[in-house]
Amino acid sequence: MEWINNEDDGIETWQEVNLLYNAALKQMETKMEILNEEFRHINRYNPIEHVKARIKSPESIVKKLKRKGLDSTIENMVNHVDDIAGIRIICSFTSDIYRIADMIEHQKDISVLTVKDYITFPKVSGYKSYHMIVTVPVYLSNRKVDTKVEVQIRTVAMDFWASLEHKINYKFEGEAPAHISAELVECARMVADLDDKMLKLNDEIMELEKIRENEAKS
Ligand code: GTP
Ligand code: MG
Repeated sequence: MEWINNEDDGIETWQEVNLLYNAALKQMETKMEILNEEFRHINRYNPIEHVKARIKSPESIVKKLKRKGLDSTIENMVNHVDDIAGIRIICSFTSDIYRIADMIEHQKDISVLTVKDYITFPKVSGYKSYHMIVTVPVYLSNRKVDTKVEVQIRTVAMDFWASLEHKINYKFEGEAPAHISAELVECARMVADLDDKMLKLNDEIMELEKIRENEAKS
């Protein structure tokens, strides 16, 4: 991969970019592990089911820059591609999504650049997820670089829907037959219903547990 280098941005090669974004992802993954463990300690359940992290391939970065009408320079990718490093946090319940987002926002060394709440405002496709672009500091030998990470937070059910929808759209190159798109929107509605029902059930179970514990104590 040939990159036109820029002397001023401090980051000059794809290897350097890769190193920075990998470090940023590692930091985010560790932060999520710690939050999950602390949360389990206090509330006795794991809000995070699992975490997936990935670095965008050079080909996809070039494609995105082209789409934006920009040259493939390191400077352009660092400034204009916000999802080079991406972390997906999968949780059990919708309420966990906002708890996790809140915990991320309150971390002193994390800056939140943008938030897109596709849970309150789903996409026309039916897509639901909570997106944040954040920066996390990466300490190199002689400097600190605040590095961008795209954070996607969603439930297991939303993730199931998104991966199927992604596969279908990939197959049809974004031009899926109308009835399939309509079925997907219907599936998204069912997923939302399922998430609601599971959350209500879980709340009820937790409430019953509390009552039992109090009864045992008295
Ligand atoms: P991208 O150029 O695709 O990154 O979009 P964007 O910069 O406008 O950001 P947006 O928040 O819309 O989307 C970011 C990412 O969310 C995408 O790269 C996908 O991973 C995911 N995403 C967004 N919309 C959809 C959707 O309708 N279906 C699925 N499966 N994923 C989506
Ligand atoms: Mg993207």
